[in-house]
Amino acid sequence: MKALPRIGVLVSGRGSNLAALISACACGDLPAQIALVISSKPDVPALAIAATTGIPTRVVAPKSYASRQAEGAAIVAALQEAGVELVVLAGYARLFDPGVIAAYRWRIINIHPSLLPAFAGSMAPGPQAAALAAGVKFAGCTTHFVTEATDAGPIIDQAVVPVRDDDTVASLADRILAAEHRLLPASVAAVLAGAVTVIDGRRTQRRVTQGSGADARD
Ligand code: GAR
Repeated sequence: MKALPRIGVLVSGRGSNLAALISACACGDLPAQIALVISSKPDVPALAIAATTGIPTRVVAPKSYASRQAEGAAIVAALQEAGVELVVLAGYARLFDPGVIAAYRWRIINIHPSLLPAFAGSMAPGPQAAALAAGVKFAGCTTHFVTEATDAGPIIDQAVVPVRDDDTVASLADRILAAEHRLLPASVAAVLAGAVTVIDGRRTQRRVTQGSGADARD
């Protein structure tokens, strides 16, 4: 039997998207093996989630490195040592050194809690709060390939949720998060299936394949 593709997941906090990826792998919706979880912070819930399912973990904390380049080199070394083919940023609160992006060109997927390019450039709950403050009627989340420009790489997929008149940042963030938990595993599965092609380095095209998760927005 062919070995499952190995993915590496980078986290910094709560880990609910990591949990969604683990569940999708367990039930077969995401035919992959999470080979390594790297956290930029020690003692976060995401590390405990990984540990309880037996996934190897590493902490690569910025303050342990003299430069962003050295931090990036440690991340690439850990990913390569674990045989990681595809990297997923699931609530990862650091910007990468360009060396990481070059080592995994078009093989790093991020999820962001807004309909990019709107409300780019900050961590949750910043984008959700900004959407609420702007009075938009629809919000959502975006999966995209990571490039050197923050939150601006080719969009893989998006999910839309309504904004209600009585929403708080927390209620809107919860609604978006539920959509994230469907969108991220589906996008990773589609990329692993070879169904997502980057055009001109700016946008993507999707070849719909059975089981690629292309209908995650439903
Ligand atoms: C998620 O909402 C994710 O989209 C966001 O952080 C949260 C992590 O939650 N990411 C960003 O804001 C990236 N700029 P989780 O740790 O429970 O998955």
